Order: sequence, then structure tokens, then C-alpha cells
Amino acid sequence: MKLTLALATIAAASAADKVKVTLYEESLCPACVGYFDAGTDLQPVNSGFWVMYENLKDIVDAEVVMWGNAVGDPSQGADAVTCQHGEVECRGNLLFGCAKNLYPDVNAQLSLIHCFDSALIVAFPAGLPSGAVNMTMMDDTVKACTTESDVNMDYDKLDECASGDDGLAYLSAEKDKTPGHSGVPFTVINDGDVVCPPPDDLTAAVCEAYTGLKKPEACTAALRNQEESWTSKVSLY
Ligand SMILES: *[C@@H]1O[C@H](CO)[C@@H](O)[C@H](O)[C@H]1NC(C)=O
Repeated sequence: MKLTLALATIAAASAADKVKVTLYEESLCPACVGYFDAGTDLQPVNSGFWVMYENLKDIVDAEVVMWGNAVGDPSQGADAVTCQHGEVECRGNLLFGCAKNLYPDVNAQLSLIHCFDSALIVAFPAGLPSGAVNMTMMDDTVKACTTESDVNMDYDKLDECASGDDGLAYLSAEKDKTPGHSGVPFTVINDGDVVCPPPDDLTAAVCEAYTGLKKPEACTAALRNQEESWTSKVSLY
């Protein structure tokens, strides 16, 4: 009995310490695709959103909001919205918005985006040319990704949602959540400032924002790198 209570207290405390990390992006913006997967084998640089999430799952409330630089009012119908990279991007934003609302499992939502972005990076390794992704490729890629074991969504449900009023209502919510910004992608940590472009090393940035007592293992390496550069500057004196 005592043990159960103690564990419940620890769980409650760690929930309060969670770092809220939100990425604002668009389905076909080249920098968005690159940033989401930065730090994976496909994009071996510092950690972007996916690698941060994989490192720090236990201490973050992660969310991706897909509206970005779109303009218009989704409540007036699909034709009333113009996406930065055209109607195929709008379709992607609708599909991802539907995935987020029909499947509350954040791991599945983010795995879907990771699968999609990885497929684009593999298909266009030199960068994502404007107009390269047509409707067929958008739908086929998302459909293939829904069958991944970490995703496990019903594509027909996503399609039905994205083609109707539900999808537009979810897209309106994404629009409403998007703060003023100067470009995409950008991040907001713990409802703080809009950071555009997002941090080069999002794992380190989130580790710094975490106020819990025990930092996750992945923070040790991420913060050590920063500490070393700080130390090397000080040693000049
Ligand atoms: C869509 O894009 C794919 C991949 O680039 C291409 O193979 C296909 O022919 C295109 N389909 C249409 C209808 O344009």
C-alpha cells in the first residue's frame, strides 16, 4: 500500500515537470522535412524533432502543428485555403491533422510524420524540389506509412476525414494554434518564445528546459557537449 502511494506521487511530480515542445510546420516545406528528421541516419546533423522525441519521450509533451504559412479560412471550405506549397501540401496538412485527432497516441502521430518525411528524403536526397510531390505520391506515401507497426492507422478513415468537414475543422484548430512567426519550421518550448529557426540541437534545448530532478540519460551527452564548449572558452582566461 505504502509503495503504491509513493510511486503515484513520483509519477505525478514527473508529469508536472514535463517539457512542452511544439513544432510548427507544413507537410511539404523542405526545411520542415529536413528538420523533423535531423539527426537520423538520413540527416546526420544535430538532433531535430524526431531524434529529440526518441531521446526524451518520457519527459516531453510533444506536438506538431501543421498550418505554417497557409492563408485563408478552413471553415469556408477547402477552396478557401491556400497552402505555401500548393494543394498537395494542403492535402498533407489535412491528413496529418486528421491523424492527430482520430488517433490520440502521440507516438503513432509522430511516427507517421517520421515515416512520411523519411520517404521524401529517400526519394529526393538532394532536397525537395518545388512541385515534386503530386497528389498520388502524397496519398500513396501516407497510406504506406499507416501500415507501419508504430503507426497502425486506418488510411480509409484518414482519407474520409481529410476529404470532408472534419478535416477542415481540425485544420482550423491548427491555424488557431499557430502563433505569429517569421518562417517555418519553428518551435516553442513551454509556451515561451517562438524560436525560428528552431534550435540546432533540440535535445540539448529541451534538456536545459527540464526542471525535474533526474535528467534522462540522453541529456548527459547532449549537455556535456555544451559544457565542453563552455569550459574551453573559460580556459582561455
Ligand atoms: C506523380 O509523381 C510520381 C513520382 O514523381 C510519378 O511517378 C507519377 O507519374 C506522378 N503522377 C502523376 C499523375 O503525375
